[in-house]
Parts: sequence; C-alpha cells; structure tokens
Amino acid sequence: MRLILVGPPGAGKGTQAAALVQRLNVPHLSTGDMLRAAVAQGTELGKKADEFMKAGGLVTDDLVIPIVVERIRESDCAAGFLLDGFPRTRPQAEALDRAMQAAGVSLDAVVVIEVPDELIVERITGRRMDPETGAIYHLKFNPPPEEIAGRLQHRQDDTEEACRARLQKYHSETAPIIPYYDQQGLLRRIDGVGDPQRIAENLFAALGLDA
Ligand code: AP5
Ligand code: MG
Repeated sequence: MRLILVGPPGAGKGTQAAALVQRLNVPHLSTGDMLRAAVAQGTELGKKADEFMKAGGLVTDDLVIPIVVERIRESDCAAGFLLDGFPRTRPQAEALDRAMQAAGVSLDAVVVIEVPDELIVERITGRRMDPETGAIYHLKFNPPPEEIAGRLQHRQDDTEEACRARLQKYHSETAPIIPYYDQQGLLRRIDGVGDPQRIAENLFAALGLDA
C-alpha cells in the first residue's frame, strides 16, 4: 500500500505510523525524522534545514522534494510505503504525483488525522522521544517507563512558540493539499482525539484493513 499521513503538529502521525507500518510491513518515511537526522549529522542539507525547523517554519521545497523522490525509488519501497509529513505544500504534492507516475505506481489513500488547535500545544510541549528506539511518549497522555526517563529527548521545535508557528504553517501551506486529494477520491478523515488504540482501529477500518 502507498499511503500518506497528513495532520497538524502533534496530530499523532508518528504514533499512528508506528502501528500502521507494523501492520502493513512497509517503510515509514517521515521527512521530519529524515531532516532531524541530517541536522544531527551536520550534512549540507541539515545545515540549511536547521534554522527553518527551529523556528517552526517549513524547509523549502527544493530541499525536501529530492529527498523523498529519491527515497521512494529504493527497493524497500517497491511494495509500498507510508509517508508521514510529506507532502506539506501543493508543489510537493505535484512533485510526488510526477515521481509516482514515472514509476508507474499510484497512491492508495491519503489519511488526514484531525485534532483541534486547542489540544495541540499541550500534546507538543509534553512530548518526549526515546532516541534508542524512536518511541514517542507524552508526560501525561503516554508516560514513559521510569527506567528510560534519563535518556528521553525533547525536540528543539517543541516549544510553545515554535509549535504555534508550525500550526500556522499547517493551516496556510498544508491544509490546502487536502481538497487536492479529496478531488481524486483518495481522502480518509480520521478523528485524532481519544485513545490512540481506538484511533488506530478506526484508521485500519478506513483503509479496509483488519485490526
Ligand atoms: P515533523 O517531524 O513532521 O513534525 P510535525 O508535522 O509538526 O508533527 P509532529 O511530529 O510534531 O507530530 P505528530 O503528528 O507526528 O505527533 P506524535 O505522534 O509525535 O516535522 C518537523 C519539521 O520538519 C517541520 O516543522 C518542518 O520544519 C520540517 N519538515 C518536515 N517535513 C517537511 C516537508 N515535507 N516540507 C517542509 N518542511 C518539512 O504525537 C505528538 C504527542 O502527542 C506525543 O507526545 C504523543 O505521545 C501524543 N499523542 C499522540 N496521539 C495522542 C492521542 N490520541 N491522545 C493524546 N496524546 C497523543
Ligand atoms: Mg511526527
């Protein structure tokens, strides 16, 4: 299956992607994770992306599009993939269409995880990541086991200020791709509020998958 997960910051894209890729056995392609890895490694891309990310802005299309276009050509993506956080602009959506057309493949669905703005800041500021396993926790909603508390990380863009900037970008740049996919009959809307396990069940059902 070839899927896209769309949603505001903190919607639960990463949380739901973990369940989905396990179920579907396809690679999880998160442009946020790829860019953070580039920043951590100090690559040319990372140096250019760092300032945009810290401030909660979008990294420019000319930097992000080639990463994804090249990544989906790799052999582990032949049977499908789950894109998380890409596309985020109309030019990114169009570039993805062209790349998939050239490869003779097409999207199966675009899932939008909907969460109201007023719940986002608390989700983002309470998030903690385990750098060893990639697991996503929340101090209140999904508390980490005590024995790993010392190694957990707080993302540099998980401040309230950067979070508000990210939300604004989501509404101005990313939300307009939703009607683009709706017109193609690919859109599935999922309520992202409530128990993550129940959200996963709704997501699987919307994709016609058994839980
Ligand atoms: P990215 O890493 O994609 O960040 P984001 O879109 O802001 O989304 P998040 O990862 O913050 O949230 P999420 O939806 O994955 O939620 P999660 O599951 O972690 O991008 C970061 C930056 O990189 C961008 O700002 C931009 O600068 C750049 N970038 C990336 N892609 C780009 C692109 N295509 N173009 C240009 N720039 C790009 O959950 C969040 C928290 O909530 C966790 O603590 C979790 O435990 C908790 N939680 C999850 N589900 C629930 C639930 N149901 N109830 C309660 N809490 C929950
Ligand atoms: Mg994420």
